Amino acid sequence: MPITQNTPIVSPVGRDTPRLDGPRKVSGLAQYTSDFRFPAMLYAVPVEATIANGRVVKLEAAAAEKMPGVRAIFHRENIGKIFRSVLEPGFESVCEERRPPFEDDVVRYYGQYIALAVADTFETAKAAADAVRVTYVKEKPNVETDLKADPDPAVVATTFGPYERLESHRGDAEGAFASAPVKLDQTYVTPAETHNPLELHATTAIWDGSTLTLYESSQGVVNLQGVLAQMFGLPKENVRVISKFVGSGFGSKLWPWTQCPLAAAAARKLGKPVKLVVSRKMMFQTVGHRARTQQRVRLGATPVGKLVSLQHDYVYERSMLEAHHEDCGEATPFQYSVPNLRVTFGRARRNVGATTDMRGPGRTPGLYAIESAMNELADQLKIDPVKLRILNEPKIDESLGIPFSSRHLLECFHLGANKFGWSRRSPEVGSMKRDGLTLGWGMAGCSWVAARFSAEASVELRDDGTARVACATQDIGTGTYTILAQLASQKTGVPLAKVEVALGDTALPAGPLSGGSMATASVVPAVFAAADNAIASLLGIATMTPGSPFENRPPKDLAFDGGRVFVKADGAAKSVPFDNLLRRANLRLVSGSGKSEATIGNPKPKFSTHSFGCHFVEVTWQPEIARLRVSRVVTVMDAGRIINPLAGRNQIVGAVVMGIGMALLEHTTYDPQNGAPINSNLADYVVAVNADVPPIDVHFLDFPDKEMNELGARGIGEIGLTGVAAAITEAVHHATGVRVRELPVKIENLLA
Ligand code: MOS
Repeated sequence: MPITQNTPIVSPVGRDTPRLDGPRKVSGLAQYTSDFRFPAMLYAVPVEATIANGRVVKLEAAAAEKMPGVRAIFHRENIGKIFRSVLEPGFESVCEERRPPFEDDVVRYYGQYIALAVADTFETAKAAADAVRVTYVKEKPNVETDLKADPDPAVVATTFGPYERLESHRGDAEGAFASAPVKLDQTYVTPAETHNPLELHATTAIWDGSTLTLYESSQGVVNLQGVLAQMFGLPKENVRVISKFVGSGFGSKLWPWTQCPLAAAAARKLGKPVKLVVSRKMMFQTVGHRARTQQRVRLGATPVGKLVSLQHDYVYERSMLEAHHEDCGEATPFQYSVPNLRVTFGRARRNVGATTDMRGPGRTPGLYAIESAMNELADQLKIDPVKLRILNEPKIDESLGIPFSSRHLLECFHLGANKFGWSRRSPEVGSMKRDGLTLGWGMAGCSWVAARFSAEASVELRDDGTARVACATQDIGTGTYTILAQLASQKTGVPLAKVEVALGDTALPAGPLSGGSMATASVVPAVFAAADNAIASLLGIATMTPGSPFENRPPKDLAFDGGRVFVKADGAAKSVPFDNLLRRANLRLVSGSGKSEATIGNPKPKFSTHSFGCHFVEVTWQPEIARLRVSRVVTVMDAGRIINPLAGRNQIVGAVVMGIGMALLEHTTYDPQNGAPINSNLADYVVAVNADVPPIDVHFLDFPDKEMNELGARGIGEIGLTGVAAAITEAVHHATGVRVRELPVKIENLLA
């Protein structure tokens, strides 16, 4: 038996690691949901309501049904039973549109599915859907942009459970505001925004007896399994959801939408696989959007800038049917030190599709308002905005009265200001020039919650020296395949190239949502525990295998390091690779399972866990031609240990790009006549593209957060977007003198 020298392996954690799935993606081998094909598969195209408020009184399908190649036109009378779903304990079976498709004849929003054409080809199905004639009783839709709170009770039911509308309070916010020597009272508006991941939402449904398999573009296969099991009255184990590659989601694919049960119901009726791909136009109607918000912020301060009162009263738009909670006040109670505070919310029903989570839900519009108000207060007081924030930095989470697990926001400000050259800023409007352009400099702080969902994982060590790690989470383009491989490699010593990763399938151990920036932090303890259990099993085997160099040793005398086993007392020099021991025992593999508990929803946390950061932004302004450009961004993130800095920077850069879109371009606008999203395509819904994107300089602080997991990793998917818009609007003011408080900033706002 060869006993070779133990070679120290370099830890893959914390190193720039290119995505392991990259080659498969760029070569076209990666199969996205709509790439899967099955024998006898049929194509479904929904019929969209062309009103936003009213009822369907007649649906004429005869002509469509007669078209060659059409298999069925489904509607309320013939789709079959689809049950409602309900929230389950432990944040399971979440859905933002509980009314099953075709449950009634009431139309609540433009584009609501009212029938479904199924045919042999996509083209035939589309033609058939277009041939269905619908008669409506129509009423004027309410898509009013001014948001006044509906008369709701003090506690409201939301998608995520009951919420008190008095979200947070301490001291006497109104009294302290009334007597404050310096006051600010402004209202900030953010528009409805629509997620536009490159990959369209898609479902392919296949029945085998009473077992349903769904290929779905999903950020949460386990959640979707729970919802669909309820909708079809099946035990969970009879529903399998597969989502191997996802062309991003930004939150729109967190929860199931109505196309999914529709495809499943049609497949059940026809006894054939049915594929339904949502069109780009439908993406603006039926798969959620970020709610419009209107947020009044009142700040009271001393003349030197110490906050004495903070009131944040916001109203958000919601659909007629559902109750997504757009939690704009999530960060308000702890972002700054202030003795008197009140946060309240109200909701305004509109005839629009369901609102839902979009990257940094709640906090992104919320921090836009709070950070804008802080910038305006700094301007009013003639204090540097960084200084104002430092002056109001809290020592603990003042809303919960507990310490932060790890908060290094001041270090973010210092590093960001330093890298940006902030000390050279002259505060007067229009006072800075370069190359004939007027410069505007602005900054803002930001934060995002850090927590874990429950997670399970398995790790296998195999006789060919490879390892496999499995977890029913998803990779939505963020790098989860690579993270799982890094974690398994770290523990087992198997090089990255020899680690197989399985995810995106409910047949695997139940994994977390790719949401809330929580997937990475959630899987760390589960994968590590699974690897430890696989290694423990290996050590046991090593002591029991006849002829093994470790035969009859107590397992506790053995150690495992870098993929090799040795006797602790002898040291690593006399070590044996694990695959050698497996072959000796005639075992293909040993496996271990691991599980970690959720921290989200803990009613009595010991620590307040969040990531923090800041953005420094430069814009250039040419008043002669009203041309505004973001020309430079420095972003600093305090997000715990970064497991893959390469993928991590990519997340932050992408989020800052999205923030440029939020500040200057993105809005979904509804036609007041028919309630349709007017700009429901990628030509009219303008997002930031390469030409809009300046150099973005991203820095991570390295403060591992041991409250999160043993690596100290938090999450980085969303925080990069929070705060960007406030930094940009501050820079716009610095350049132009115009305070824009309704996003996006439009050229016409800047024309004096
Ligand atoms: Mo994110 S909005 O949790 O996908």
